Order: sequence, then C-alpha cells, then structure tokens
Amino acid sequence: MGKKLRIDKYLSDMTIGSRREVKNWIRKGRVYINSRPCWNPDEKVDINEDEVTIDGDKILYEEFIYLMLNKPQGVVSATRDNRDRTVLDLIKDTRTKDLFPVGRLDKDTEGLLLITNHGELAHRLLSPKKLIDKVYYAKIKGKVTKADEEAFLGGISIGDDKPCLPAKLDIIVSDTLSEVKLTICEGKFHQVKRMFEAVDKEVIYLKRLSMGSLTLDPSLMPGEYRRLNEDELKQLKCLTNIFN
Ligand code: URA
Repeated sequence: MGKKLRIDKYLSDMTIGSRREVKNWIRKGRVYINSRPCWNPDEKVDINEDEVTIDGDKILYEEFIYLMLNKPQGVVSATRDNRDRTVLDLIKDTRTKDLFPVGRLDKDTEGLLLITNHGELAHRLLSPKKLIDKVYYAKIKGKVTKADEEAFLGGISIGDDKPCLPAKLDIIVSDTLSEVKLTICEGKFHQVKRMFEAVDKEVIYLKRLSMGSLTLDPSLMPGEYRRLNEDELKQLKCLTNIFN
C-alpha cells in the first residue's frame, strides 16, 4: 500500500492540468482508475497500487523529484524573484510545482545545486548539525600560500560570533592569480568569499563541485540539469538517514 491521494490532486500534481481542468476531464469520462471510468474527483487513489489513465495514457505518480543543476552565473537561487531570473526558470520539461533549491549559491557562483520537492531531505542536508562537506573550486586574485592553508585549517574568523570550522584548502596554482579547491562543512553567508577576504584575497570565480555524496556531473554545461540517478539518490538518502 502507498500513500492515498484524491484523483484530481494526483493528476494536477503531475501538471497535466489545473485542478479545474482535471475535474472537467473526469466529468467527460476521460479518466480511468484500474480500467474503470472515474466520475468522482474526490475518489482516492493509491499512488503505488492504482493505475490511472487519461484517454488511455498511463499517468504515473512521482512523489519526489531530484534534479542536479549546474547553476550558471546571473541567476538567483530562489523560487521567485521580482528582478532576476531564478534557478527554477531554467527547469523546462519537468513540473516545477513545489520545487526549490537546496541552499543558496550567490548570483555570480556556478555549479552544483540540488533542486527538489523533498523537504525533509533538504532540511537534513542543510542542517548545521550534519556538517555536510561542500567542495568549491575558486580562482583567487592574489597568491594563495601555505599560511592560508593553515589559517583555514585552524578555523578562520570572518567576523561572526564564532570562527569558521576547520576547512581544507588545496592549492592548485599559487601565483598572482591562484586556483584552489576548498572544502567547508558549514554554509555561512558568502562563506568562501569572506574566508578569502579574511586573508586579504579576492574570489573572482567560484564554482561548487560537490555537496556530501553528490558530485556535479562534468557533462552538464552551466544552465543544464538532469535527474539524479538511482545510485546518487541512494547515497544522498543514506547520508541523510532517509529510508524510504
Ligand atoms: N560561498 C560563497 O561565498 N558564495 C557561494 O555562492 C557559496 C559559498
């Protein structure tokens, strides 16, 4: 047995139509449940057991959606915004109802952003108690040195009540324009930029490469997204202790 839903909600959740349109289709006898016509929009269906069709086409119910987006620069990590394009504006062939980005990347940051409608999973991934690692690639104006590595590892202060937790800095290129990878396990506001400011350097390009077990698919160009595969989802659920 699975979760039970009203047939009009089941169909409108799948955004095949608004609640009103769906009711109309039901009235016209176009909707069948387990091979018999359904005339009642209040009728409950089991999302796992019952077979729902419209005009003979099977409509499967997908309760949760998980998308991996390579966020491009210039869009904001929000569901709605009066001025800027949002990450949800990039989602085209999937229902966007109830979807939201898990956490925030700055408008000028690129890279991995999970988009889902699974509130509990998102909540656990973002929980400060969970200390989920986030790995960033950054280009830095200024010569990043061993002293910066040590300062980050020791927990650098960025002006908040408490200093940052230890963070691992890997220097890829150390020059007037440096390249680094940085692993942090918190999600303070503008954290990476502020950590480099604290050592008198400036982040000029920032891209998130991973979050916990989830790694950005390198074949996704900025602005592209795909559904998580089974393995990625299994690992994320394991990380967040979600067993369903
Ligand atoms: N740290 C930042 O400064 N910006 C981001 O977008 C993410 C982490």
